[in-house]
Amino acid sequence: MLVLGIETSCDDTAASVVKDGRQILSNVVSSSLRLHKKYGGIIPEIATRKHVEAISFVVEQSLCKAAIDLKDIDLISVTQAPGLMPALLIGISFARALSFSLKIPLVCVNHLLAHLYAPLFLHKDIRFPFAGLIVSGGHTSLYYFKDVEKCALLGLTKDDAAGEAFDKVAKILRLGYPGGPVIERAALKGNPKKIKFSCGKTESPLDFSFSGIKTAVLYYVQKHSAFIRRRLIQDIAASFQEAVINCLVEKSIAACRKKRVKTLLVGGGVASNSLLRERLTKTAKQDNIKVYFASKELSLDNAAMVAGLGYQLYKRGAKCFQTFI
Ligand code: KG4
Ligand code: ZN
Repeated sequence: MLVLGIETSCDDTAASVVKDGRQILSNVVSSSLRLHKKYGGIIPEIATRKHVEAISFVVEQSLCKAAIDLKDIDLISVTQAPGLMPALLIGISFARALSFSLKIPLVCVNHLLAHLYAPLFLHKDIRFPFAGLIVSGGHTSLYYFKDVEKCALLGLTKDDAAGEAFDKVAKILRLGYPGGPVIERAALKGNPKKIKFSCGKTESPLDFSFSGIKTAVLYYVQKHSAFIRRRLIQDIAASFQEAVINCLVEKSIAACRKKRVKTLLVGGGVASNSLLRERLTKTAKQDNIKVYFASKELSLDNAAMVAGLGYQLYKRGAKCFQTFI
């Protein structure tokens, strides 16, 4: 079965053709990120306008790269939520019109759960049940998955998301946007033990809090403004990253212990962070927990994960937005 995935939840206009939920035939992403950089964050109006301009071309490219015609598509899967509302509407309207004109079914999927589908393209041996950590620019949550459709939320951030904290701290340090990759790069040359930052305490042990650490970095920078040189910025970046990654690792392992699972999947933009990958894999090993990440490319927003999850839901009889067969 050939599934066309469409994703427009944030700044990426993405389309992908996936065969039988596992084989990626094409994966096209057109990003408007460079237009947002000067604002230090995503501007919904700009992202939406760019989706309108790019979507036809991106879908055409995905068909062309997969060497198929529109008429070969059996199912369309589109991101329904969460995301920027006007941006989501472009993808949903396009998918709906296409489904209507081609007379093929359309399923709508959750963007966050799609992030957790991404590791399945790389690792064919993943089995239920498992725990899932979603770490993106807008969300940080832990889930327990019994099956594709049966999942329970174990914890979530009470304020900022982990990616958001990276973005805000990068802004404080004047490193640019998006924050994750620039902080990771600066941290490579810094001393993670130089400053003791820590993430906020939460009432529930599996919840997260990242707004306090961002403020701690701000106060530290203000207090040491006379001494801010490249070396100190690298130390701040490394110390901040160390604290956030330690918190993500600790809570993910605690979630696995709580649910007695030996498999952990990680998805979302922050999952491309090398320290998180290394530290989580190593720490989990002590508990015999196997950690699965997507490729770095598929950790970021893409439509292959949307097509993959859509296929699984359709096969399990998910309610279709439009059904013609
Ligand atoms: O999943 P994603 O591509 O978009 C959302 O759905 O939010 O995640 C984007 C987030 C941004 O906050 C970005 O700073 C963060 O992922 N990010 C990283 C890294 N690469 C991207 N955070 C830490 N380390 C990275 N290497
Ligand atoms: Zn995302």
